[in-house]
Amino acid sequence: MIQISNLKKTFNLSKKQMLANEDKVKFKTAVNNISFKVNDNEIFGLIGPNGAGKTTTLRCLATLIEPTEGSINVNGFEGHSQGESVRRELAFLTNELKLDTHFTPEYTTKFFGRLHDMPERLIDERMNHLFDYFGVTPFRHTKISDLSTGMKQKLSIVVSLIHNPNVIIFDEPTTGLDIITARAVTDYLKLLKNEGKTIIISTHMMHVAEKLCDRIAIIMDGDIKAMGTLDEIYALTGQDNLDDSFFQLYNNSGGVSNV
Ligand SMILES: Nc1ncnc2c1ncn2[C@@H]1O[C@H](COP(=O)(O)OP(=O)(O)OP(=O)(O)O)[C@@H](O)[C@H]1O
Ligand SMILES: [Mg+2]
Repeated sequence: MIQISNLKKTFNLSKKQMLANEDKVKFKTAVNNISFKVNDNEIFGLIGPNGAGKTTTLRCLATLIEPTEGSINVNGFEGHSQGESVRRELAFLTNELKLDTHFTPEYTTKFFGRLHDMPERLIDERMNHLFDYFGVTPFRHTKISDLSTGMKQKLSIVVSLIHNPNVIIFDEPTTGLDIITARAVTDYLKLLKNEGKTIIISTHMMHVAEKLCDRIAIIMDGDIKAMGTLDEIYALTGQDNLDDSFFQLYNNSGGVSNV
């Protein structure tokens, strides 16, 4: 279970960032007072335009950055005071994390398994299962620099899941993947959900959110503009699909861009 309460994150901007913004504003509020809960056995989707605050929310949740205000709770562990316990509970995937390209999938996966203090036999068992599922097995001894974009992404997913975490936080897991690989990832997330895991993803792909997520939050300019099941969001916006619901909310908010 994930509980985010009144989360706010403000970044102090560097001189370079202030120059790039062409104004004298010293702070950037990326996330402004958002709250939501994700249950076990649920896939929750964060949808929003570039710069809306999705990655910032997920980074706070994964305890990689400290919220300015508000609290995070993951399976009873409090983000601020019990960060290590929170991190043990979860998998965090983001395209900002880069694998070391000198190593092979097998070496990298074993390395992360050992970081999680897993026994060698369990590492091998989990690694073989995940390698087989994601089609990494034929490339297990290939240097990561020689892998395709999709294979690197699948390896990142394997590495993030090696310790069989209860909570899965995936930032844009299907971005850059072809339709077959993307389906393998979303199918696996459904499997994990059916095992009772708590899953939160961010995505730009409306069809992925429509097919995969039990509930969705549409976030713009650091605020949640709508939250609920697909049907609840359609009822709120008077639309019958997520694309149109999104644009309805976007236009209502004045077409804000926060990039
Ligand atoms: N470390 C930082 N310092 C300053 N500003 C930041 C920092 N990280 C994020 N921001 C700003 O906060 C806002 C939200 O960024 P965030 O990366 O959370 O958006 P996002 O919804 O994930 O966007 P995208 O869809 O492009 O990935 C943006 O305006 C971004 O420029
Ligand atoms: Mg992002």
